[in-house]
Amino acid sequence: MNIGIIGSGSLGANVARALAKKGLAATISNRRGPESLASLVGELGPSIKAGTVAQAAAADIVLVAVRWVDLGQVLGGLPAWNGRIVIDGTNPVEFFDPDSPDAKDPGNPLAAYGIKAVDLGGKYSSEVFREFVPGARVVKAFNHLDANALAQPEVSGGQRVQFYSGDDAAAKADVQKILDAMGYFPVDLGSLAVGGRLAQLPFGPLAATNFVKV
Ligand SMILES: NC(=O)c1ccc[n+]([C@@H]2O[C@H](COP(=O)([O-])OP(=O)(O)OC[C@H]3O[C@@H](n4cnc5c(N)ncnc54)[C@H](OP(=O)(O)O)[C@@H]3O)[C@@H](O)[C@H]2O)c1
Repeated sequence: MNIGIIGSGSLGANVARALAKKGLAATISNRRGPESLASLVGELGPSIKAGTVAQAAAADIVLVAVRWVDLGQVLGGLPAWNGRIVIDGTNPVEFFDPDSPDAKDPGNPLAAYGIKAVDLGGKYSSEVFREFVPGARVVKAFNHLDANALAQPEVSGGQRVQFYSGDDAAAKADVQKILDAMGYFPVDLGSLAVGGRLAQLPFGPLAATNFVKV
């Protein structure tokens, strides 16, 4: 199964790094176009190719690695998903200017990080996310770890735990195979409604946990 990555920032590039370490193939893309990725793909070696968003989005398994506020712009207008797998690596947070009133909001426990939670109206984030990818089988993964940790699935003689969740058993099995091949210790958290909520940043109880299976 081929893999596409939309977004080449912290998340997209570090997932690509982890894939490259095992020689796993993927096409990575961003807003600025494939030429802007020359240095990244040069660093990562031949298994990772730079492509357009359309090329990455045509893969069997597509990781969405863009900021929450960009989802509509990135995913609107892409061809039909037709049951292909989309990995939701996003978290529903918004970045703000350090000089904005948001930075001093005493009601925002994340203000020191320069982010605030997006109001999802009581929904969990993958519930909103899947509205952007109608017809896709959504699996949530890669969102709960710091992106720098993602680049090293095998650490300290063990394997980093990678949570994943989804409502389609076959899609989850395919994603699990990739997580295994990358060297993570995949842990199935169940459905999106359960696992998505557990691992969703900022306030899921498993968000930002960094377990290593030894
Ligand atoms: N950073 C982390 O530690 C981390 C960990 C887990 C999950 N996440 C989640 O992962 C997502 C991405 O975070 P990040 O930190 O990687 O963000 P980031 O560093 O700002 O990267 C965002 C990427 O999205 C691309 N992008 C934006 N609009 C686009 C468009 N219209 N078409 C194609 N590509 C577009 C950008 O392209 P350009 O490079 O061309 O501008 C950039 O490569 C967020 O939802 C975040 O919550 C982040």
